[in-house]
Amino acid sequence: MIRLTIIFLFLLANTILAQGLKSTDSIFPGQLWQDSKGNPINAHGGAVIFHEGIYYWHGTHKIPGLSEKEHADGGIHCYASKDLITWYDHGQVLFLTKDNPHTDLAHESNFDRPKIVFNAKTKNFVAFFKLYLKGHGVETGFVGVALSKSPSGPFVYSHKFLGGNSPNGTGDFAIFQEENGDLYHLTVRKPDKAFVVGKLRDDYLMPEGLYEVCEGILKNTEAPAVIKRKGIYHMLASGSTGWDPNPARYFTSTSIYGPWKDHGNPCFGTNPHNGLGPEKTWGGQSTFVLKVQGKEDAYIAMFDINKPEHPFESLHIWLPVTLQNDLFTIPWRDSWNLGVFGK
Ligand code: DGJ
Repeated sequence: MIRLTIIFLFLLANTILAQGLKSTDSIFPGQLWQDSKGNPINAHGGAVIFHEGIYYWHGTHKIPGLSEKEHADGGIHCYASKDLITWYDHGQVLFLTKDNPHTDLAHESNFDRPKIVFNAKTKNFVAFFKLYLKGHGVETGFVGVALSKSPSGPFVYSHKFLGGNSPNGTGDFAIFQEENGDLYHLTVRKPDKAFVVGKLRDDYLMPEGLYEVCEGILKNTEAPAVIKRKGIYHMLASGSTGWDPNPARYFTSTSIYGPWKDHGNPCFGTNPHNGLGPEKTWGGQSTFVLKVQGKEDAYIAMFDINKPEHPFESLHIWLPVTLQNDLFTIPWRDSWNLGVFGK
């Protein structure tokens, strides 16, 4: 009996140690990522902002048990972390509602890819998200806007606009903030799938003027994510194949309006969990490039492994970006931590 108890305690200690190491020391791309309480991180198509020493990860809350066809989108879910590895759940900070089928945020709307920025002038955290209204299909793509005084919400829905200066609006988009606060909306336009860029007003609530069509970017570029380094804009993106993965795309430019230079697919290596390589971006689709604070040239490329039948079970791929001759490469890693960036 004593021997059995000892064996049991040994196994228990090993399990706790293994889980502890996994959740506190490293990032495991393409594997289930649990929050500090052990629940799957439910923030998809998301992005991360840094505010007063804390990273906030916002993404679409997917309703457990519903497929994409059954309208799994629930709103925005927020997590917070100091080390980018252990994430604390702040819950849902914006909700689609079943109470009123006529509101813009009615349940069964298509709510995708939230991106949040801070407006230093208005002191608002502004959430932008892709919004297709309930019952209207995907022909008209709005940008939804919600506001909060705190990165951890709650966010209050404000309004929507049709970006791209097109009657049918926008698809996947990136929001890029210059150091001086200027904000740009970079989006694939509907229905012609051209890639267009427009500056938003100083209050970030509406486009300031006309969008420009970007030369150089392949048509049908989706899932864009933009950072600026040493005066060069870098855009990670995908092709256009619905929820299915395709090869990643990578462009650079000296102007946010282009012309953008096409560098092909920056990814390489194989995801051992599904056997997929760069031809399918390891089963993923880009959503954001995150700058790690306090380190030079430390960027993390974020991707989602979308599971349209079970979106709640969609997985995350976070990988460090390697710079070679000032250009991105993104090698697969089974696990890694911030030590890869040096001190
Ligand atoms: C591609 C987008 O990148 C995804 O976020 C999602 O909207 C799918 N299309 C839906 O088909």
